[in-house]
Amino acid sequence: MGSASTPANVPLITPYKMGKFDLSHRVVLAPLTRQRSYHNVPQPHAILYYSQRASKGGLLIAEATGVSDTAQGYPDTPGIWTKEQVEAWKPIVDAVHAKGGVFFCQIWHVGRVSNSSYQPNGQAPISSTDKPLTPKIRASGVDVVEFTPPRRLRTDEIPQIVNDFRLAARNAIEAGFDGVEIHGAHGYLIDQFLKDQVNDRTDKYGGSLENRCRFALEVVEAIVDEIGADRVGIRLSPFADYMESWDSNPEALGVYMAESLNMYGILYCHAVEPRMKMVGVVHETPHSLVPMRKAFKGTFIVAGDYNREDGNKALTENHADLVAYGRIFLANPDLPKKFELNAPLNKYNRETFYISDPVVGYTDYPFLETPI
Ligand SMILES: Cc1cc2nc3c(=O)[nH]c(=O)nc-3n(C[C@H](O)[C@H](O)[C@H](O)COP(=O)(O)O)c2cc1C
Repeated sequence: MGSASTPANVPLITPYKMGKFDLSHRVVLAPLTRQRSYHNVPQPHAILYYSQRASKGGLLIAEATGVSDTAQGYPDTPGIWTKEQVEAWKPIVDAVHAKGGVFFCQIWHVGRVSNSSYQPNGQAPISSTDKPLTPKIRASGVDVVEFTPPRRLRTDEIPQIVNDFRLAARNAIEAGFDGVEIHGAHGYLIDQFLKDQVNDRTDKYGGSLENRCRFALEVVEAIVDEIGADRVGIRLSPFADYMESWDSNPEALGVYMAESLNMYGILYCHAVEPRMKMVGVVHETPHSLVPMRKAFKGTFIVAGDYNREDGNKALTENHADLVAYGRIFLANPDLPKKFELNAPLNKYNRETFYISDPVVGYTDYPFLETPI
């Protein structure tokens, strides 16, 4: 604590070897949906946004990026299933690499967190279930989002969705990304299979823990086969109940997934803290990620309301190898530098998280050197 901190005693600012990647510090940009990729195509303004947050040997995870035309549930989120999208990602990835950053693409299917207006031919969103979501207040706090009741995927359709993830991973590598993070968290499609309060299937993808994890692990296996295990990470939030997706035994789910992932030798597991039951809302909880951390043999990343002090503590106590920061990295493009110097942080502005502007709340947060 205090301004006396030097890099020598800031665990967050110590090197770490993640597979073949030599990271110079442990401060990771968490995936952050920004809704500024008009018509699902990444835009040139993302070049500045990501390169502002890139540092030599720093790991960035791109915002959730759709794997297919059925994967979307929000306005203007990027995709990676068309040639145009792949080409549009390339200069963004190049800019991060030019600064020495390591860049993973978070690949995503929202499942039932959608409505027919985002779907091809106005069809129903797909899910593990046909249970609908109740309407939600949008992050703006004003509008209400309505969800179309989903269509339960037939057993024989599931390999096609696995294949969509596989192709998206291949496209991410084609775009120049160093790897992919499979979005298995926060109530989206993969989580809709994992969690026993959503998944009500009676086929081999439902019922037992093993069956509920089957879809996630088939996605992992397909992507590992396609791009190699050393370029694959996954994000999981067993304790979260975001988007009405929760489990009666989250610790068992987390540990089972961690142990199963070991069989594929993937690079990292990125787990969201139990205290983040909802995105952005913190709860006290007796649970911890330690059993999952102990079970997983690769790099373990934690996220969820970390600040500088408790990020350092998580590393010192060996609860994690890397710490991902969302909202404060958004508001502080030079966050690793500020952590190194223990400099004061800009506050994030929630009002501008999800607006469509190419600059405001996006690339206009000041750097340390910028006079305020
Ligand atoms: C604006 C915003 C967008 C987010 N988008 C994503 C996303 O695309 N994928 C994801 O896995 N999590 C997403 N999250 C969750 C963050 O990655 C992170 O886990 C969460 O904000 C908690 O970390 P923090 O307390 O450091 O912000 C988002 C959060 C915010 C605030």
